[in-house]
Amino acid sequence: MKIIDLCAHQIFDSRGVPTLEARVALKDGTVGVGSAPSGASTGSHEARELRDGGDAYQGKGVGRAIENVNGPIREALLGMDAALQGRIDDRLQELDGSADKSRLGGNALIAVSWAVADAAARSAGMELYQWLGGAQARQLPCPMFNVVNGGRHANNNLEIQEFMFVPSGADSFHEAMRMGSECYHALRRLLSEAGLSTAVGDEGGFAPNLERDEQALEWMVRAIEAAGWKPGEDVCLALDCAAAEWADGEGYRQSKSGARFQRGEMIEFYHALAGRYPLISIEDPLGEEDFEGFREITDALGDDLMIVGDDLFTTNAERLFRGLALGAANAILIKPNQIGTVSETIETVQLARRNAYAVIVSHRSGETLSSAIADLAVAVNAEYIKAGAPARGERLAKYNRLLEIEDRIF
Ligand code: PGA
Ligand code: ZN
Repeated sequence: MKIIDLCAHQIFDSRGVPTLEARVALKDGTVGVGSAPSGASTGSHEARELRDGGDAYQGKGVGRAIENVNGPIREALLGMDAALQGRIDDRLQELDGSADKSRLGGNALIAVSWAVADAAARSAGMELYQWLGGAQARQLPCPMFNVVNGGRHANNNLEIQEFMFVPSGADSFHEAMRMGSECYHALRRLLSEAGLSTAVGDEGGFAPNLERDEQALEWMVRAIEAAGWKPGEDVCLALDCAAAEWADGEGYRQSKSGARFQRGEMIEFYHALAGRYPLISIEDPLGEEDFEGFREITDALGDDLMIVGDDLFTTNAERLFRGLALGAANAILIKPNQIGTVSETIETVQLARRNAYAVIVSHRSGETLSSAIADLAVAVNAEYIKAGAPARGERLAKYNRLLEIEDRIF
């Protein structure tokens, strides 16, 4: 079905920062929409967001990205068949011509790429997950609920960016939501009773000041029990350290306390945590260039834990390939805006799949109301989805869409 029009306009993300939404119109009257989320702890190898600079919006305006959609991108895609996502995404890459999508903007490209997928699915009368995954889509992901926020996502004193509940004992997505929601509310009550802050960070998790990061895990175990579930059986724990933020020369220096660690000490620290708490996953335990360290920690802990590469891989097949060759990590975080098009995202997932790496589809800390990543997770049979706390509209947009998919379809 032919594309007859394409445009973009400015919206605001969940942090109140400008971003863009693209709209594609097809000859049969179908309209598709797509938008660009935005990270705070972004990897150096991500597709580049095009921002205007200057005084307005602290330099974060997206006027140039919007002009690129309304000008050269529109020109290039008019008349193309929206059903051929691969061809569209190839055209976008060609037109951009840079290795990191910096010319037209990764934010412009991902919004357009999603809008085309949305329009094509609607025009075919299909659900987005069905359109993207075909007959192979058959599994709902297990949610990873980020319920304590630290690092760059909150101005508290926690160094680790994300502490998550993972209801891996749930029999259905509905049950997983119930567990996550009950544990989240129990955690709020416990923190509040202890006189700790229940104000939330960027992804809807609580952001208290604690003496040590480890105490967040202790509160979480208590919350699981208080909600009537079994830690380690019904509900497990996961971390995203976002340790690229701490990389400092050969070693690491935590951003808030200034504490220094060598790679070996970091691995020891995670080893000890895994012995004390029902952890099933650690994301970015080390820096984004530390492939060797990732190999080492995967050797040491990978039989029992998911070692997840986010800033390490940036949803980039070439970087994943490098990791596969070394045995660095055993799972990958998938963020479509890290690579810039829907087709490249799916190619990276396929490479991970062929090599038995677990797949976690993920939101960004700055989000829109789009639920497209929920459909992507179902389309690629991702084991997990990470979309923040079971609170705040932009996080629930993803989880509620999965409830709908389970209700209506499975
Ligand atoms: P970001 O955080 O969206 O700020 O990059 C999410 C993550 O690190 O997984
Ligand atoms: Zn991460």
